[in-house]
Amino acid sequence: DGSLTVQELAMKLVVPESEVIKILFFKGIAATINQALDLETAEMVTKELGIEVEAGTQESAAKKVTEMIEAGDLDYLQRRPPVVTIMGHVDHGKTSLLDAIRHAKVAQGEAGGITQHIGAYHVDVEHNGEPAQVVFLDTPGHEAFTAMRARGARVTDVAVLVVAADDGVQPQTIEAISHAKAAGVPIVVAINKIDKESAQPDRVKQELTEFNLVPEEWGGDTIMVPVSALQRENLDTLLEMILLVSEVEDLYANPDRPAKGTVIEAHLDKARGAVATFLVQNGTLRVGDVFVAGACLGKVRAMIDDRSQRVEAAGPSFAVEVLGLTDVPAAGDEFEVFTDEKAARSLADQRTMEQRQVRLAQAMAARRVSLTTLS
Ligand code: GTP
Ligand code: MG
Repeated sequence: DGSLTVQELAMKLVVPESEVIKILFFKGIAATINQALDLETAEMVTKELGIEVEAGTQESAAKKVTEMIEAGDLDYLQRRPPVVTIMGHVDHGKTSLLDAIRHAKVAQGEAGGITQHIGAYHVDVEHNGEPAQVVFLDTPGHEAFTAMRARGARVTDVAVLVVAADDGVQPQTIEAISHAKAAGVPIVVAINKIDKESAQPDRVKQELTEFNLVPEEWGGDTIMVPVSALQRENLDTLLEMILLVSEVEDLYANPDRPAKGTVIEAHLDKARGAVATFLVQNGTLRVGDVFVAGACLGKVRAMIDDRSQRVEAAGPSFAVEVLGLTDVPAAGDEFEVFTDEKAARSLADQRTMEQRQVRLAQAMAARRVSLTTLS
């Protein structure tokens, strides 16, 4: 019937319940956490919080044209899993945390699954009693932001900022915060290493407030989860919070169209030739599809997932290793499937030409610089 409790609304909007209660209070409504609100009241609160609601449901507000989503997709959008990047200072436990999350989940029911390195991991979770998925990018967070952003690609939906409880905010923590903020990506803080004798989680929270990351319990709106990657403590809560934050993001795609997305990494493999990991951001990628990635033409010969399984299709938010490229694209390049092979070929040719021109221009500029410095 569309009614929400105060608590549910606060969770949806990622604001403290006290905020919602306060707004209701000033509107003359004395509400408790479990009080049900009708749609009109919920929308009023949402507006008061400065969060945009379009006419009708939140659903329709989320459906808009972006780099990846075209107007023709709007009627066919479905929710997709969030794509998450883990960032933080050196040695604060990024790799350990990702490993712990992966193994805790991969171990369940997966017989001898040797995990292949494809630069992304899919984790099965449960959210609100329903099966859900989270996709973690395994690129060092900074690379995911700098290399990809330099090409205008946005691949991350949520950033997990890892801060060691015994070391606090450090230079790369600050860098990570500014990258995420510049990209407009919401931050979930994982205060790691809480198992340590010297852990001071409250000090970390205090330090983070200087960067406008204020924990909910202090009246702010940043979710901070104390965890121990080493002892696998609180990882489920962290995943739950990632999903909670994702719920208010516009995570939609149209699975029923040719795929489009971003190259996460690529290399030349001695045995298999050019190999790339594609993150599908819209549509579904299938074996046999003809595509252009950067300036490279390709035809999907095979796709392999993060559990080394061959797959026939990869939908929105899924990352797969792709075989069948004629050349090695660059991380951050966009890829797109074409139903018309000739169109694909001419686009690839045109891009190759453009890249050559750019390289020539750069070489000339370099030469000019060295001449001017000589004279
Ligand atoms: P870089 O990739 O070098 O930036 O480091 P990282 O952030 O990936 O950290 P990594 O996971 O390699 O962990 C660094 C060190 O911290 C290792 O010695 C880990 O064993 C240790 N460590 C990570 N998580 C925890 C934790 O929850 N508790 C404790 N006590 N140690 C941890
Ligand atoms: Mg690491």
